[in-house]
Amino acid sequence: MKLVELNNYEEISEYAANIIAEEIKNNPDCKLGLATGSTPVGLYKVLVDKYNKGELDFSKVKTVNLDEYKGLSKEHEQSYFYYMNEHLFSKVNINLENVNLPNGLAEDETEECIRYGKMLKEVGERDIQVLGIGENGHIGFNEPDEIFTKRTHCIELTESTINANARLFEHKEEVPKYAYTMGIKEILNAKTIILIAYGEKKKDILKKSLNGEITPATPASILQLCKNLIVITQSK
Ligand code: PGA
Repeated sequence: MKLVELNNYEEISEYAANIIAEEIKNNPDCKLGLATGSTPVGLYKVLVDKYNKGELDFSKVKTVNLDEYKGLSKEHEQSYFYYMNEHLFSKVNINLENVNLPNGLAEDETEECIRYGKMLKEVGERDIQVLGIGENGHIGFNEPDEIFTKRTHCIELTESTINANARLFEHKEEVPKYAYTMGIKEILNAKTIILIAYGEKKKDILKKSLNGEITPATPASILQLCKNLIVITQSK
């Protein structure tokens, strides 16, 4: 594991974006695993800036996202498709046929999990997987549990996650109760994993995940087993 401790959010975003930018330059048809949430907003901004300066070409890049709320359409402002479109897809020359997220409006939950899992298998090992970490240690929407669920599944969100995400909705009641998420084995199928953690609320859980017991009660603790994990966080 490589632990990178930086001074502020801007430096964290820049550092993470530079790793991804180098990958895109060296490997134009690279496969990226992407994350949503407040943490990677800055990293996408840096990538868009680089694209606008003519430094990056996304035309052959393929992406898979970690998760999506069940019940939200692509047009819903809190859906993760909407987020990705706002922060990256609509701002660079990525081919929308090369981006993948679970379909929040899928009619059949089981079928949707099978479809997403099959797609992930076809894409194969990603070159880079970006991850944030939840205040309860979740990665993607793999919430604390008694087992590590390997494959894509639909999960009931915990109260902690609903409370953490309520800030983005007008009323807490509007936060979806379920979400589709890549499973743990699928998340780990990447050559390099970049875990970004920023803010006071993430300090304790990051420490516990990186140094504590490897347990599904702290899903991010599984990352201790990754060969090539880069943790990017603040120094104080
Ligand atoms: P955040 O979410 O970046 O909005 O804090 C991270 C996560 O829940 O994985």
